[in-house]
Amino acid sequence: MARGHFIAFEGGEGAGKSTQARLLAETLRERGLTVKVTREPGGTPGAEAIRNLLLAPPGEGWPPQAEALLFAAARADHVAHLIRPALAQGQWVICDRFVDSSRAYQGGAGGLGDDAINALHAFGSDGMRPDRVILLEGDEAALAERLASRGEAADAIEGRPATYHRAVAAAFRALAEADPQGIVRIDAIGAPRDVHNRVLAAIGDLLP
Ligand code: TYD
Repeated sequence: MARGHFIAFEGGEGAGKSTQARLLAETLRERGLTVKVTREPGGTPGAEAIRNLLLAPPGEGWPPQAEALLFAAARADHVAHLIRPALAQGQWVICDRFVDSSRAYQGGAGGLGDDAINALHAFGSDGMRPDRVILLEGDEAALAERLASRGEAADAIEGRPATYHRAVAAAFRALAEADPQGIVRIDAIGAPRDVHNRVLAAIGDLLP
């Protein structure tokens, strides 16, 4: 059986990753593919438990290194128990965030650097990479407005200052510039259907 493909959506808060993950899954299913939609941090019971520790820290907040280790631990569980088995069964896996979030948030904005995050990922998940990363980008004000209209309380990471989120966006951009084939930048502003069409164009070569 052909191995499935692994697509990750990345971007800052309010970029519409979950909507685009859902729309892509619908289109792929219409084409007869079996698709698993999942997210990080989370996706498996173990990783979802770690998610709660990360987004609502029980103590005074995780030191940056501990935060990066917890994301890597959640990812190791997710890769071992969900992503690899699904791909081996020929399913497509669409993931709302993956290791490039750790590289942009903890490595870039958090100051730990790319080498440290890549080392944790090599140890935890054998350095697994998606077949294609879709980076959803938009202007800061437009994304902030989208986020505010959701009306959800910010979690421990989302609630960080605008300077942190600006550094996240810059780090994502730099990652995409260094690997333009692997990480495709997509304009996330516009009607979800229009953005979806841009996403389809960006993975067209992977479709059967
Ligand atoms: P997510 O549930 O995707 O939040 P949102 O829907 O608001 O984008 O992710 C939760 C938070 O975790 C988000 O602020 C980004 C952060 N995060 C990291 O800092 N590092 C990571 O490796 C991942 C996967 C997420």
